[in-house]
Amino acid sequence: PKAQGFALSEEERHEIEHALGHYPDGRAASIDALKAVQKHRGWVPDEAIPEIAKAIGISAADLEGVATFYSLIFRRPVGRHVIKVCDSISCHLTGYEELRDELVKQLGVQYGQTTPDNRYTLLPICCLGACDRGATMMIDDDLHGPVEPADVKAILESYK
Ligand code: FES
Repeated sequence: PKAQGFALSEEERHEIEHALGHYPDGRAASIDALKAVQKHRGWVPDEAIPEIAKAIGISAADLEGVATFYSLIFRRPVGRHVIKVCDSISCHLTGYEELRDELVKQLGVQYGQTTPDNRYTLLPICCLGACDRGATMMIDDDLHGPVEPADVKAILESYK
């Protein structure tokens, strides 16, 4: 019953079609299609899955599998800014734990949680491909690194 009342916007449809044009089939386009919806809504609600699946011609169960497996598709509402902290090996050697602890302290939330003012969501992520700049984190689409714990406050303040 939840599916009733949910509709993809024109823009979302357009972007999903665009993604389809870039891949051999709907399955290959599924992450881009999910991302198109996430771009507009901030996350991908359950109700969106059957609609997106229909648009790319795969089953809702298959798409659900992709959406669940891929950690950068958010299945719950997130804050205005998503902070992703690299917890892979190089960053562990260059201050990951101190950075994570400082973020947890400043934000007052743990991984997977959103601050009560809805400003930030904190998540771990695997290697951001900038291992020479550890410890690294992404805020929205911006890569930060190397980040010292002392830098955290000023960086956070620049995201309103
Ligand atoms: Fe952190 Fe590669 S290990 S960016």
